[in-house]
Amino acid sequence: MLDSPIRFDPEGPTLRLLDQRRLPEEERWIECPDPASAAEAIRDMAVRGAPAIGIAAAYGVALALARPTAGGAGDARGIRERFEGAARLLLAARPTAVNLAAAIERQRGRLSETLAAGNPADLAERAARSLFAEADAIAAEDVAANRRIGEFGRSLLPAAPAPTRFLTHCNTGSLATGGYGTALGIVRSAAESGRRVEVFACETRPRLQGARLTAWELLAAGIPVTLITDGTVGALLARERVDAVVVGADRIAANGDTANKIGTYQAAVLAREHGVPFWVAAPFSTVDLATADGAGIPIEERAASEVTELSGKRVAPPGAAAWNPAFDVTPARLISAIVTERGIARPPYRESLAALAG
Ligand code: MRU
Repeated sequence: MLDSPIRFDPEGPTLRLLDQRRLPEEERWIECPDPASAAEAIRDMAVRGAPAIGIAAAYGVALALARPTAGGAGDARGIRERFEGAARLLLAARPTAVNLAAAIERQRGRLSETLAAGNPADLAERAARSLFAEADAIAAEDVAANRRIGEFGRSLLPAAPAPTRFLTHCNTGSLATGGYGTALGIVRSAAESGRRVEVFACETRPRLQGARLTAWELLAAGIPVTLITDGTVGALLARERVDAVVVGADRIAANGDTANKIGTYQAAVLAREHGVPFWVAAPFSTVDLATADGAGIPIEERAASEVTELSGKRVAPPGAAAWNPAFDVTPARLISAIVTERGIARPPYRESLAALAG
């Protein structure tokens, strides 16, 4: 089974990403030798999922320092300029997942520490090495966080001899993270503990992360998965065929409002209507305490062609417009619990998230 969709080869140095646009047909890795190619891979969703985007950006910005640019200054000022140029490119790639901005900010801090150490001849090399090490740390911390999320999440599950039935949206597994997964990490953790689990996965229009990626990952893990169209959520919940809805997050505001893949909000409304718990699972790096509530979360809007076309073939009549927000915001009042590696936050989230922030 896949450990991580992101590999770093220090010899290149080269960032390698499993091209998620081609799954499940083909497992192809693409190479990103510089920040521009990493930014393009994020923008075009070769790599996607909030934590995975953050990790790719952490390596991507480090690549800016790896090769001396023609005539580029190797002193602290020149190094900082190269870093900030790459940071701008990467930050513009996708706006909603806070993990991207958080990873760049963390790398900026690491760079300042390295530059403060003086101005030796090999400063650029040292700075690059320290940023690659920091990116390795971000990736490793993410996997550790996901395993903790899995353990905490397991404690929420009903004690039942019958299989636990989850509904999930989009893809939150190894593919979307440094490895193991967040919402799917809870499912995996439950399965690994010997519990029987079943997953209903929304296909997740328009990019079909559920149909292409979640189904692929769950089958590889030996976990039964049933695909539904996004419009089937209400019918499924009405028939009492789900014990819990569990989803990931791209950004969680200080009050608990949560941005996640478009379609999450309607699943939360329907879960409330049918008395089914609705859990958000995310590493604490997805919590953005600087954003007071969901109104402050930037929502990415993607090309209309993602809606008017299917697999590159136009299905809508010429002239039909399409609105394609990539994410929606689920109000905190619809969320039963937010599972992080620091513990489980319960309403009211302003207090419980602040307490977990420490
Ligand atoms: O557009 P995507 O595929 O990057 O959106 C991904 C999601 O919405 C995930 O649910 C979220 O990033 C959490 S991934 C652990």
